[in-house]
Amino acid sequence: MSNAEIGLIGLGTMGSNLALNIAEKGNRIAVFNRSPDKTDAFMAAAGNLKGHLLPGKTLEEFIASIRPPRPVILMVNAGAPVDEQIVVLRKLMASDDIIIDAGNANFRDTMRRFKELEGSGLTYIGMGVSGGEEGARHGPSIMVGGSPESYARVEKVLTAIAARYNDEPCCAWLGPNGAGHFVKTIHNGIEYADMQMIAEIYGVLRDGVGLAPKAIGEVFAKWNKGKLNSYLIEITAAVLKADDPKTGKPMVDVIVDSAGQKGTGRWSVIESQMMGIPATAIEAAVAARSLSAMRAERAIAENLYAKLNKARSLGDPNSLIDKLEHALFAGKIAAYAQGFAVLEAASKEFSWNLPMSTIARIWRAGCIIRSQFLDTIATAYEENNGLASLLVAPAFVTMMQAATPALRHIVARGAQDALPLPALSSALSYFDSYRQACGTANLIQAQRDYFGAHGFERLDSPGEFHGPWGGIQ
Ligand SMILES: NC(=O)c1ccc[n+]([C@@H]2O[C@H](COP(=O)([O-])OP(=O)(O)OC[C@H]3O[C@@H](n4cnc5c(N)ncnc54)[C@H](OP(=O)(O)O)[C@@H]3O)[C@@H](O)[C@H]2O)c1
Repeated sequence: MSNAEIGLIGLGTMGSNLALNIAEKGNRIAVFNRSPDKTDAFMAAAGNLKGHLLPGKTLEEFIASIRPPRPVILMVNAGAPVDEQIVVLRKLMASDDIIIDAGNANFRDTMRRFKELEGSGLTYIGMGVSGGEEGARHGPSIMVGGSPESYARVEKVLTAIAARYNDEPCCAWLGPNGAGHFVKTIHNGIEYADMQMIAEIYGVLRDGVGLAPKAIGEVFAKWNKGKLNSYLIEITAAVLKADDPKTGKPMVDVIVDSAGQKGTGRWSVIESQMMGIPATAIEAAVAARSLSAMRAERAIAENLYAKLNKARSLGDPNSLIDKLEHALFAGKIAAYAQGFAVLEAASKEFSWNLPMSTIARIWRAGCIIRSQFLDTIATAYEENNGLASLLVAPAFVTMMQAATPALRHIVARGAQDALPLPALSSALSYFDSYRQACGTANLIQAQRDYFGAHGFERLDSPGEFHGPWGGIQ
C-alpha cells in the first residue's frame, strides 16, 4: 500500500524523534532501520502514533509503501553510510523520487552527490537539521538546499514539523545543492563560539570570583531574562544548578573538562580559511576544545608553571558580573558577525544567493543557538540591503559601542590574572582590527618585499614597487 507521505531511514536518536514528529503532524510515514531490532523497539514505544507509522522489514517493502514521487529522509551517520544508502536507493527508487540527506553532511559531499545523481532521474536535497533530540521530536530548525521544485514536494511536511517563532515556521529553502548543509555547518561553528564564550565567563566566575556552580547558575538565569536570553544561556543555568545523583556534588564538578571537536565545527574553520574570511572566535572555540582534550599535557604543564590560584579577587563581584554580561554580549556579536560573513562569502563563491535575513529568522527557534538576538540580526539584514558586516549595521554599532568597554575590561583582567579567554579575546582583537582603517600590514608587505621581492603598493601612486633594501638576502 503506497500511501505514506514520506519515508525515513535511520531510527537512531535523531531519526526516531523526527519520524515521531512527522507522524504527530498527521502524516503517514514509512520507516526503516538497518538493524531490525531498532525498528521493533521504535514501534513498540510509538504509543498512539503507531497508526501513522509504516515499518518496513526490507528496503523494498519500505520504498513500496511511499506515495510517488517518494521523498526519503536519510538520518544516518554522515559520510560513507550516506553514500552506501544512495547506492542501494538508486536501484529501488523511480524517476522524480527524492533522497533527502538530513544528517550533518559536509556540504562538499552534498555537492558531489548532487552531481553524481544528475541525469539519474532522482532528485536530491541536502537538509541541515538543528535542535538535537528534543528539537527533532518537537520542532527543529530546518535548512534546505536543493531545487525549489523538490522542496515544493516536501515543504508541507517540513514546515509542519519545524519549530515556530511568532507562528512562522523555522524552515526554509536556502539555495541550491550544498546551501542547506553549509548553513548548518556555520550554524554549528557559531554554536561552538557561543558555547566557548559562555564557558569562558563561567571560568571567570569560578576561578576569578570563586563562586560555586549554583551561584553561577543564578547569574546565568538572571542574564537569561535580559539581552543574552537564549537557549544556550538557559541550559547553562540549568546545568550549573544540577547535582550529581551519585555523589551529591554539583554535576559540573564531576564532569571531565575535555571536549572533542569534529565535523561541522572543524569544517566551519576550514571553509572560512579557504575563502579568506576571518572567523577568529569560531577558530578559537574549535582550538579551545582541542586544547581541552590534552588533559595529560595540561596536568604536566600545571606542575611546571606556578599553579593558578583560585579566586583571584577581581574586585566588586556585582560590578564584575554586570561587565561580564556586556562582555559576553559583545563577544557574541563579533562571533555572529564572523559567521554571517562566512555565509556571505560562500553565497558568492558558490552562487547560492543565500537569504541572510531568512537564515537568521529560521534560527530564532528550534535550533541550539536560538535566541531573540537572531531577530535583531534578521531585522538588520532586512533594513540594510547588501550589508558588508553585521558590525556596520546601525543597531549593531550602537550595541557594540555600549558593550565593548566591558569586553575590553574583562579580556584585560583575564590576561592579568591568567584566566584563559581565547574566544572572547579573539573576538575583541577581531573587532579592534576590523575598525582600524590603518592597520599594520604595511610592515608585513615591506618584510615580504625584503626577503622575497614580492613588491607592494604605495599609498601615493598606483602600481607595484620595491623598497630600498639594498643587499637583499
Ligand atoms: N544527535 C544530534 O543532536 C544531532 C543533531 C543534528 C544532526 N545530527 C546528525 O544526524 C545524523 C544522525 O545522528 P544520530 O544522533 O541520530 O545518530 P545515531 O543515534 O548514532 O543513529 C545513527 C543511525 O544511522 C544508522 N546507520 C549508521 N550507519 C549506517 C549504514 N552504514 N547504513 C545504514 N544505516 C546506518 C544507524 O543504524 P543501526 O541502528 O543499524 O546502527 C542508526 O539508525 C548524523 O549525521 C548527525 O551528525 C545529530
